[in-house]
Amino acid sequence: MTALIIDTDPGVDDAFAIALACASPDVDLLGVTTVFGNVGLAMTTRNALRVLALYGREDVPVAAGADRPLVYPHPHRARYVHGEDGLGNRADLLPERATGVAGTDAVALMASLLESAAEPVTIVPIGPLTNIALLLAAHPAVRGKIERVVIMGGGVGIGNVTAAAEFNIWSDPEAARRVLVEEDVPTVLVPLDLTHRCTVDGAWLDRLAASGPRGRTLVELIAAYREFYSRNLGIDGSVVHDAVAMAEAISPGLLVTETYPVDVECAPGPARGTVIADRRSAIARDRSGVDGSREVAVAVDADLDAVREFLLSRLSS
Ligand code: BDR
Ligand code: CA
Repeated sequence: MTALIIDTDPGVDDAFAIALACASPDVDLLGVTTVFGNVGLAMTTRNALRVLALYGREDVPVAAGADRPLVYPHPHRARYVHGEDGLGNRADLLPERATGVAGTDAVALMASLLESAAEPVTIVPIGPLTNIALLLAAHPAVRGKIERVVIMGGGVGIGNVTAAAEFNIWSDPEAARRVLVEEDVPTVLVPLDLTHRCTVDGAWLDRLAASGPRGRTLVELIAAYREFYSRNLGIDGSVVHDAVAMAEAISPGLLVTETYPVDVECAPGPARGTVIADRRSAIARDRSGVDGSREVAVAVDADLDAVREFLLSRLSS
């Protein structure tokens, strides 16, 4: 059984990731916290509650966190990908949850869940890393209760929101740098280049739609997002980034990782928000004086069909 906390900005692919956790019998979903990102905080929070309601999860505490990055304003949302409501303009397909948000904020909820956890917990941040940076800064004692942090973010050599940067890291580079470079908890980064290789096609989505009412609802939510990616990729399909990271969180080792020192570009300019993974050999790194003390596991490969099958089998219902 994997104890999980999800930090999220739903987001169509976030909805798939939350659904995957809810649909997995080997997951103990301790809590869901929300952050600004694809849309504003009020909407990401409402969307997280609604996705949980689709799975009848009235029991999972939800708390709202940061509505902006740590240092600079958020340049823009991702409504052009996720729709005005964050769920492909189909959020109203989902039921409202009877239980609203917890009477506490995201950081306080994560801290108290970690403090009271009997076993180490996996945290799955699938939005900007603001809440996670704040958690680690304000509650350093919880580090020992964290099994792994499995992050969807970055791109080794590619970007999506800019030529070089991926949306989650670019949305709050200072927070990302704190989590990826300055902290010392076991971390797995699931970057864009791998999530793109795990693209699901029209036949996969048809099978999901035919699997039952929840599968059908997920496929209805993804319609506009699917169009965006189909235009982008030139094939009928979708990139369910956050669900790929969630799959690794639930099934450690599903993705093949390599460990590298990483850094995050925080300076203004065209590279702001880029994750730089130092893929040189240890000898080359030593020669250039990089101490390489903090290494992050970066997902670089997978049995792609096995990942797609893992997602489909769990989401089918
Ligand atoms: C990431 O950015 C968001 O738009 C998605 O939800 C995902 O977390 C992909 O770059
Ligand atoms: Ca997301």
